Amino acid sequence: MARHLITSAIPYINGIKHLGNLVGSQLPADLFARYQRARGNEVLFLCATDEHGTPAELAAAKANKPVAEYCAEMHEVQARIAEGFGLSFDHFGRSSSPENHALTQHFAGALSKAGLIEEVAETQIYSKTDGRFLPDRYIEGTCPNCGFEDARGDQCDNCTKQLDPTDLINPHSTISGSTDLEERATKHLYLKQSQLRDTLQDWINSKTDWPVLTTSIANKWLNDGEGLQDRGITRDLNWGVPVKNGTEPWPGMEGKVFYVWFDAPIEYIACSQEWAKGDEWQRWWRTDKGADDVTYTQFMGKDNVPFHTLSFPATILGSQEPWKLVDYIKSFNYLNYEGGQFSTSRGRGVFMDQALEILPADVWRWWLLSNCPETSDAEFTWEGFQSGVNKDLSDVLGNFVSRVTKFCRSKFGETVPEAGAFGPAEAALIETLTTRTRAYETHMQAMDVRKSAQELRAIWAAGNEYLQEAAPWTLFKTDPDQAAAQIRLALNLIRFYAVLSAPFMPTTSAKLFVAMNTLDTSWPDDVEAALTALPAGHEFTVPDNLFAKITDDEREGWATRFSGKRD
Ligand code: MF3
Ligand code: ZN
Repeated sequence: MARHLITSAIPYINGIKHLGNLVGSQLPADLFARYQRARGNEVLFLCATDEHGTPAELAAAKANKPVAEYCAEMHEVQARIAEGFGLSFDHFGRSSSPENHALTQHFAGALSKAGLIEEVAETQIYSKTDGRFLPDRYIEGTCPNCGFEDARGDQCDNCTKQLDPTDLINPHSTISGSTDLEERATKHLYLKQSQLRDTLQDWINSKTDWPVLTTSIANKWLNDGEGLQDRGITRDLNWGVPVKNGTEPWPGMEGKVFYVWFDAPIEYIACSQEWAKGDEWQRWWRTDKGADDVTYTQFMGKDNVPFHTLSFPATILGSQEPWKLVDYIKSFNYLNYEGGQFSTSRGRGVFMDQALEILPADVWRWWLLSNCPETSDAEFTWEGFQSGVNKDLSDVLGNFVSRVTKFCRSKFGETVPEAGAFGPAEAALIETLTTRTRAYETHMQAMDVRKSAQELRAIWAAGNEYLQEAAPWTLFKTDPDQAAAQIRLALNLIRFYAVLSAPFMPTTSAKLFVAMNTLDTSWPDDVEAALTALPAGHEFTVPDNLFAKITDDEREGWATRFSGKRD
């Protein structure tokens, strides 16, 4: 049995995420976690809310709430929505947890002991209007790298370049809009990650099986311009993990906190401590405590890649302690919305809560995963969504289940019929399904999400084609025994589909198991055997219509509703 540690990039606490965020990390991570569990492997699947830094402070200020209260509320909101989407986290933690505070301070101490922390006297942007320093997202301006006008103080969303507030051209405060800014002296801790450059380069070079998207971004950061820069890991903010050297105070750093991107990935580990109130987490994270045989996979959008390929590994490697490093980084491009970007600030596109208001989670899961931005950016359009969902789910899967169960009920009753035997057509179908199932396993194991979806769709379609050819509704009149054998196979196909489709559509799959009246959810290692799992005489029920077709009226209404400002 393999052991899989799986993490999804932890979403910022500031508000409900849109479908582009979902498909870039949490959803494919869930697909992989569910698949590994279905194959009998041991899985620890973790996610959390990213609660520190300027995004949290700004959002709380906007909501007129103390930041701690705002975060506690929004954590609950995000947790409930995640549940609604069937995201099967073993724990959904909080980066503001006491566990993460202690572990972040511990890492800073270890890095300092290893000689990798430097105290740097520097100037930061100070806003006289706001009476405070403006780190990270408190300041915006034009990106010096690509000219994008809404670049933030920490990173450009357009070209993903990591920035310093002092790099921005024509900067302004995002609190007051003020451009009355000046540089003032302050002192911060820097992580000397440039000293780890060769170690990181060797490590990245050894990852020959990683997606090109992941390694190309990492290499760009390692080799661009002056190469890997040391980076400030503290900030002049109130909300966050107070700067300490392990459990000791850090003289001169009073009133400062760690940078959100320093503590957030550490939450991957702290989350497992929140999950296991004991030492159980060590089996997953400490290579001296059994984590050597763990396969660790991270899921994230491309803007997160530099932090996961370089910054966090610098923290782990620099600590000189036996922590588990990531084995595979699966990264995603962006999902666009109707010819533009999803926009949280403009409320453009569909957000996770709204999605669940209008359609069941499985419909979204299927479309998003089968169209995920894997090798390039992808596009959500209402027309594409409507036609994809109606074709795959209603016409193919839903139609198969409904036709087979209803026909059986009317001719043989609600039990698997006994008569007849499988012939060449059945043997050919079993052979096709065996080949396709093995291909599906290969793609799922490789996290080739689109290829996996294509294969699953082809597996559903093979059943439909078989049924269309066999035409038991016609054959029944001349050869009822042969028709019975066909229906026996088709009923077994429904259970088979429930097993294979479960990672994509867990709720639908559960409905099918209930209808087929079986607890046998075992993986079809032997496809032929799997297709006789429901024996003659086994009782079942006809399920309610699995998927309602999306109508043109619905599509048009939603396109209008989600085009602009959210209400
Ligand atoms: N909150 C970040 C984002 O949404 C992701 C943080 S991932 C972690 O882009 F590694 F830092 F945890
Ligand atoms: Zn840029």
